[in-house]
Amino acid sequence: MKRIVLFENIHPSATEVFEAAGYTDVVTYKSALTGSALHEALKGAHAVGIRSRTQFDADAIAAATDLEAIGCFCIGTNQVDLLKAANSGLPVFNAPFSNTRSVAELVLGEAILLLRRIPEKNARVHQGHWDKTAEGAFEIRGKTLGIIGYGNIGSQVGTLAEALGMRVLFHDVEAKLPLSNARACPSLKRLLEQSDVVTLHVPGGATTENIMNSTTLAQMKPGAVLINAARGSVVDIDALHEHLQSGHLAGAALDVFPEEPKGTNEPLKSPLIGMNNVILTPHIGGSTQESQENIGREVAEKLVLYLRSGASKGAVNFPEVSYMPASGAERILHLHKNVPGTMAALSNVFAEYGLNIVGQQLQTRDQLGYAITDVDGIVSEELLAKLRAFPGTLRCERLRSGL
Ligand code: NAI
Repeated sequence: MKRIVLFENIHPSATEVFEAAGYTDVVTYKSALTGSALHEALKGAHAVGIRSRTQFDADAIAAATDLEAIGCFCIGTNQVDLLKAANSGLPVFNAPFSNTRSVAELVLGEAILLLRRIPEKNARVHQGHWDKTAEGAFEIRGKTLGIIGYGNIGSQVGTLAEALGMRVLFHDVEAKLPLSNARACPSLKRLLEQSDVVTLHVPGGATTENIMNSTTLAQMKPGAVLINAARGSVVDIDALHEHLQSGHLAGAALDVFPEEPKGTNEPLKSPLIGMNNVILTPHIGGSTQESQENIGREVAEKLVLYLRSGASKGAVNFPEVSYMPASGAERILHLHKNVPGTMAALSNVFAEYGLNIVGQQLQTRDQLGYAITDVDGIVSEELLAKLRAFPGTLRCERLRSGL
C-alpha cells in the first residue's frame, strides 16, 4: 500500500480523495516540519503534500527515497527545488485554479461597494455622521468594466459582471476568446478611457510592472475606480495616491501591495492608509473556505491520477503526459534526458525481450523526456534493469497495478 504524507494541516478534502481512491495509509501533520524531523517523516512516503511553509529542498528530496510525486496544496511552488525534483523523477503538482472564483467574487463585491461609495459612508457612520445622500452613488448595472489580463480570473470576473448587467471590455497581450458579450480592446488606452471600473488580473514580473502609472491612471475616466487583486508590482502606488487625492479617481480597492507585511502584527506601510475611499485587504483575494477545500481536492486528484497511471498533466516541472487508459499487461514510466534516439533505443530493448508496444505517449520539456509505454507482456527484472541502465535515464519505474 502506498503511503501519503500530508503536512501543514491540509484540508480534509484531500484525505477524502485519497481514501476514496483506496489510498488509506494517509499520515497527516498539523504543521510544517524542518530538518531531520522532516526527513524522518518522509521515510516510506510515496506521495507528499505540503503548503507554502515546508521547504522541500534537495536534502528533503534525497531523504524521501520512496517518493514518487509532490503536491503543493497552494498556488506557489517556489518552496520546492523544482529542478532537483524533476531530475529525481518527481513531478510537482499545484492548484492554480482553485481560488479563481474567490478572487472574482471579491472583485465584483468591491466594484459594487466602490461605486456606491460605501467605504466612505461606512467610515462616516462610525465617526458619528449620518450622510443620507445619493450623491456620487451609482448602480453597477449598465456600467463598463475594463479587465486588464483576461486569463482564468479576468474572464471569470467578466462572466459574473455580465450577470449583473455590466458591459465588459478586456485587454490582454494574447488573443483570447471573449466569453459571453465581452469585447476585446485593442489598446489599454481605449479600455481605460471607457471603463467605470478597471480591474487588474495580469501576472507579476517585469512586463507588467507599474502597468498603472501616472500616464495610464490619467487615461482613466474621471470618477472611475481601480481594483487590484493581482500583484502589488502592477500599480504605482504614489501615482494612484495622487489621482485619488486630486479626485480624478473616485476610489480604489487593493488586495496586494509592492511590499507586504511578513507577519500578522506587522502593519502595512502605504500612503493609502487612512483614505476612506480606499479598501485595503491583506492579500486574501483567494482565501476562502471553499478555495481551501477545492485546493485539497484538486491537488489530491492530480496525485492519485499520477500514482495510478503515470499521467503528469498539470505538473509544473515535468513533461506533461495526459491520462492514457491501460492498454497492455504492464506499464513502464521512463524519464530521460531529452536527447535524440532515446525512444528508438527503448523500443529496441522491448523488442529484444519479445514485448510488443501497444500504447505509448512521449512528452518533452526543456532537458527532459517522459514516456509512458504499455507492453503486451510481463516486464522482467532483467529488462527493467536494462532500461534503468540506459544512458540518459533519470528514472524508470514499472507502474504496479492496484495501490
Ligand atoms: P492567468 O495566467 O490565467 O491570466 C493572466 C492573463 O494576463 C493572461 O491572459 C495573460 O496573457 C495576460 N497578460 C500578461 N501580461 C499582460 C499585459 N502586460 N497586459 C495585458 N494582459 C497581460 O492568471 P490568473 O490565474 O488569472 O491570475 C491573475 C493574477 O491574479 C496573477 O497575478 C495572480 O498572482 C493573482 N492572484 C491573486 C490572488 C489573491 O489572493 N489576490 C489569488 C490568485 C491569483
